[in-house]
Amino acid sequence: METIIFHPEQDNNAIAAAAEIIRRGGLLGIPTETVYGLGADALNEDAVRRIFEAKGRPQDNPLIIHVPSADWLERYCHDVPASAYRLAEKFWPGPLTMILPRRPIVPLRTTGGLETVGVRCPDHPLTLQIIEQAGVPIAAPSGNTSGRPSPTTAGHMAEDMMGKIDGIVDGGACAVGVESTIIDLTVNPPRLLRPGGLPLEMLVDVLGDVEVDKAVKHKLSAGETAKAPGMKYRHYAPKAPVTVVTGAGIDSARHIKRHLTNRTGIICFDEYAEQFAGHIVHTLGRENDKLSHARRVFDALRTFDGTDVTEIYAQCPDESGLDLAVVNRLKKAAGFHTVESKPQIVIGLTGGSGAGKTSALRAIEKMGGCVLDCDAIYHKMLKSNSALQQELTAAFGHVFTADGTLDRQKLGNVVFADKSALERLNSIIYAYFPGELTARIDAADAPLVAIDAINLIESGVDKLCDFTVGVIAPVDVRVQRIMARDDISEEYARLRIHAQKNDDFYRTRCTVILENTATTSAAFEDYAAHELRKMIEKAKSGGYDHE
Ligand code: TXA
Ligand code: MG
Repeated sequence: METIIFHPEQDNNAIAAAAEIIRRGGLLGIPTETVYGLGADALNEDAVRRIFEAKGRPQDNPLIIHVPSADWLERYCHDVPASAYRLAEKFWPGPLTMILPRRPIVPLRTTGGLETVGVRCPDHPLTLQIIEQAGVPIAAPSGNTSGRPSPTTAGHMAEDMMGKIDGIVDGGACAVGVESTIIDLTVNPPRLLRPGGLPLEMLVDVLGDVEVDKAVKHKLSAGETAKAPGMKYRHYAPKAPVTVVTGAGIDSARHIKRHLTNRTGIICFDEYAEQFAGHIVHTLGRENDKLSHARRVFDALRTFDGTDVTEIYAQCPDESGLDLAVVNRLKKAAGFHTVESKPQIVIGLTGGSGAGKTSALRAIEKMGGCVLDCDAIYHKMLKSNSALQQELTAAFGHVFTADGTLDRQKLGNVVFADKSALERLNSIIYAYFPGELTARIDAADAPLVAIDAINLIESGVDKLCDFTVGVIAPVDVRVQRIMARDDISEEYARLRIHAQKNDDFYRTRCTVILENTATTSAAFEDYAAHELRKMIEKAKSGGYDHE
């Protein structure tokens, strides 16, 4: 079938031709202020059947009918309550669908077998003209293939429907971007079945009490039925699995950053986009711009199909106003897979022997922070991570004894004699580190976590941190300290320090430097506590992300 794209602003006959398609029982893509619809004569069973076929939509999922004004309500509905007229007066034409008792003239095929029918008056001049000229109500679900995100441009609609329908009327990008709000007026109190382009708060203003259907915010369990049949289907879903991350934007951004891989796609607010440079990112607009979230959410969900992303993380707005609908669409796309981000700051601490890292860590512990010691974690992993053990055995031969403990001497003999073997060892171990640390950060039930790691940067663990701190001190001071601490000769102490990274390494790679020129460790601990507090405050306000 050839699908004609109509451009009414350039073509004076377009509206008449489009109305004619509806009159003779054809299928027509129509623009509305919410999303594009796949329209047909709502009173013509054959035409309505073809809507279901073209969308691949389950037959029990009812269609809503579109009328040009509240004057048509009595033709298709009976027992219309006064509240329906009050709502129409205030919000029509607009993104509100009312469920009302059906008159027999509306075929059961249209209502999916229900004795009620959803009616709405869309706020788009072209579609209103088409309905008037066709002289019949237009049944129209969203114009996507069933299960896909709803189309908000004629181009989206063409992606799904080209060759399957008679025409698409190009009326520009949809102003609202999410579907209409559905309110069931056949029950008392009225029930919100689907949040949409008209905020719940505005309905409450007119109706007083409104009950919110459970399917709006939660995944229904087996046996529960959605009052709007469409709410029970997995919906709006891109091909890659979606995780919705709730919490304040700054916290959800941080959570996503700690969990992403090279092939993670991201839906985020404008403010956080640059943190995800290098990834496929779709922004929803600024964090407080609800209109923009609604306009962009479906586009976001469509963006990732046709890319190689293997998973999608989405920052989640709060649920007020239009965002109740946005959150609902995101969560449905995720199959309600959501995680709650915590306001948790992670600091990476590194530095050479004798510089004072231990004192800085003690300062963090005294603030209630939880310290993750990478050296200890490394030894635990060697004992318990069988994948790591297998990889090491494959690379270096039988370096584990029968009971699974590492024969350090044996491994040492191999890697210390051969630089490339040491590099291989590190690259194997570093591949396991960020994943292991991410799990431990998630498990840590503290608002402040410090990662203590000599190889913080090399292992890639720095990427999990809000900021990294390099602790440095003059070489002579370090020599004196480790001589006293480890009871070794000056020569040996100097050799040890010489084998470690120099201050420049930390200065160029860490977010901040803590220089230890204090005369006692207690004095340095005080100084570190003071400086760290300032850094933590800065990180909490997003300071280190926007540098
Ligand atoms: O904004 C919109 O409402 C768009 C544009 C095209 O107008 N249309 C739209 O239609 O979103 P659709 O079919 O994708 O979603 C309509 C929803 C479905 O979840 C359906 O199950 C529910 O409305 N619905 C329709 N008639 C109903 C009824 N009588 N009782 C309960 N739910 C109903
Ligand atoms: Mg739909």
